[in-house]
Amino acid sequence: MPHPSIILGLETSCDDTSAAVVLDGRTVLSNIVSSQDNLHLRFGGIVPEIASRRHLEIINPVIDEAMAQARVKFTDLEGIAVSHGPGLVGSLLVGVSVAKALAFSLDLPLAGVNHIEGHLYANFLTGEDISFPLLGLVVSGGHTNILYMEGHGRIRILGRTRDDAAGEVFDKIARALDLGFPGGPVIDKLAREGDPSSFAFPRALMGPEGGLDFSFSGVKTAVLNSIYRERQRGREIDLHNISSAFQAAVIDVLVEKSFLAARQKNVKIFLLAGGVAANSELRARLRQRVETEETKVIFPPPELCTDNAAMVAAAGYYRLRRGNTASYDLNAVPSLSLEG
Ligand code: KG4
Ligand code: ZN
Repeated sequence: MPHPSIILGLETSCDDTSAAVVLDGRTVLSNIVSSQDNLHLRFGGIVPEIASRRHLEIINPVIDEAMAQARVKFTDLEGIAVSHGPGLVGSLLVGVSVAKALAFSLDLPLAGVNHIEGHLYANFLTGEDISFPLLGLVVSGGHTNILYMEGHGRIRILGRTRDDAAGEVFDKIARALDLGFPGGPVIDKLAREGDPSSFAFPRALMGPEGGLDFSFSGVKTAVLNSIYRERQRGREIDLHNISSAFQAAVIDVLVEKSFLAARQKNVKIFLLAGGVAANSELRARLRQRVETEETKVIFPPPELCTDNAAMVAAAGYYRLRRGNTASYDLNAVPSLSLEG
């Protein structure tokens, strides 16, 4: 039986509505992402009810746009893939319901993709040669994980955050500094002209007791305290400097733990993924380190780091290829496990 090769992917797990058409799990024919950032901006974070209602309003036009841009017809499709967790239940349900309806009416196989697995698979869209075993660092608004992957669908979590996710802390600091939402891209830009040593923020769990786990609540509290202290003293905060010092504290830990994992596991390929992987300083630092370490680091272009459906279609392609088809009772699972 031929493998399904033209896959429509859907992604609605959080606040981005996305549809993409991907060929052979590696070539992006279209990838439409409709961001809701402006809707949530005035709340400084995502409002779940607003997110799910918006997904429902725009999912069909987003799919039509993806199909038109890819120049394919529904009858050309060979599979449907959807993120069904983790994420916000009301948001996930929109993508899952539409995916099931499409798969049923077009009589196509359906793949239920774990959103974090999807982030990792964005790397398979880079054209790079990727072999197993490999390590992955997924850093997003909701997750910070170091993963070990022995083959397609065989993922183990080696390290995770014990409290806040890295992206979540970028967003909280940005909110305290009135920089809008999401915070990562703004802080990334401000930090380029700042001095990373202007504030001394903690690097948590760097000793042996931390292993490959992360903790970002300490650095978050330290940055927030500095902001309040400066304000109380009536001093203006240098946004460049505080962004740079905060970002350096987070990146130092991410980079060190990534290479620690690579050494411990003796793995030569490292995939970076998730919204925070779009960070220019993190990418630059990893590139620098690669010159001295024997590990190849691969990262997707920034638009494939943040939430998008092309990554879901890529992960779905490999699921369908190994016969891992979801049934029509596929459900949204807000705390879906990666290792299951
Ligand atoms: O992967 P993603 O789009 O959604 C989740 O699955 O969470 O990640 C969004 C997160 C947000 O916290 C956002 O602030 C962060 O990724 N982010 C960045 C950058 N671009 C997005 N963080 C740091 N630097 C960036 N350039
Ligand atoms: Zn994500």
